[in-house]
Amino acid sequence: MRTDNDTWEITESVGATALGVAAARAADTESQDPLINDPFARIFLDAAGEGPWDWFGAPKLPAEVVEAEPELPLRMQSMLDFFASRTKFFDDFFLDAANAGIRQLVILAAGLDARSWRLPWPDGVTVYELDQPQVLNFKTSTLHEHGGEPTCRRVDVPVDLRQEWPTALQQAGFDAAAPSAWSAEGLLMYLPATAQELLFDRIQGLTAPGSRVAVEGLAPNFAEQEALAQRRERMERVRVLMAEADPQREVPRNDELWYFEDREDVGDWLRRHGWQVSVTSSAELMAGYGRAIPTQLDDGAPQALFVSAQLSANT
Ligand SMILES: C[S@@+](CC[C@H](N)C(=O)[O-])C[C@H]1O[C@@H](n2cnc3c(N)ncnc32)[C@H](O)[C@@H]1O
Repeated sequence: MRTDNDTWEITESVGATALGVAAARAADTESQDPLINDPFARIFLDAAGEGPWDWFGAPKLPAEVVEAEPELPLRMQSMLDFFASRTKFFDDFFLDAANAGIRQLVILAAGLDARSWRLPWPDGVTVYELDQPQVLNFKTSTLHEHGGEPTCRRVDVPVDLRQEWPTALQQAGFDAAAPSAWSAEGLLMYLPATAQELLFDRIQGLTAPGSRVAVEGLAPNFAEQEALAQRRERMERVRVLMAEADPQREVPRNDELWYFEDREDVGDWLRRHGWQVSVTSSAELMAGYGRAIPTQLDDGAPQALFVSAQLSANT
């Protein structure tokens, strides 16, 4: 499915996963008790049309599917809670960094993240958004058509994060001598292990003292065959049921786009390179936002590790 130099539009391959996250953000925003507020997510979905990316955003399921898989609605709600909690974690991280005086923010694999439009940025903030060119084109042209104005200075940096991207970022105005704050949200599973290692080497080369970084690190059991086989088996059952009950509605196959390879733990990597690190599990994060994973669910949300780290201002 994947190749070293593959590219994609918003509705295909890895691009469509950005729509999947937007669908989850739209569902939370429009729920009775939202954790986040992302009115732009629905605009992206309307522009893209229907597709497998709607799966988590439209959790109402045919009765016969629920009868055969009674845990599925709870599992889907738990995934929505995971995405909402993840969004809030990175929102809070960036706002804290900006309110502490950092003026350069870098969103790696920005996808349809609308933070540049929806968060209350202090004056003087520049947000650099890195992603594949066609993903960024879809995002900016869609919001432009809807008259959305960023609430910061926003700079698109169309790149492939597996390739040499620091030059493009610096040519776009990024200053490696000044502090910066970075995010990698929903990205690492789409990178081969060697590309992940290179990504962090490159971040290290661009971060001055006082910089911060927040990363969604992969679950410790991410590359384990048993966990993968279990998840695939469960999804395959759902796929068969849905094909009978509602053939129009596709169940996505995101994990076919992932690289199941052993990698160094992100927190360990950052500590080794002089960062002060704190790590929160997805279970702790979700519970802290009042969205605890239901106890009756085994594997109710990805066991991701939310890492935030800071380089001392005095180094
Ligand atoms: C699951 S989406 C997450 C998007 C966004 N961070 C969010 O949480 O809403 C994955 C994103 O990573 C981007 N991506 C993955 N691999 C990439 C690469 N090698 N170069 C540039 N972008 C990449 C995709 O284009 C997509 O927008």
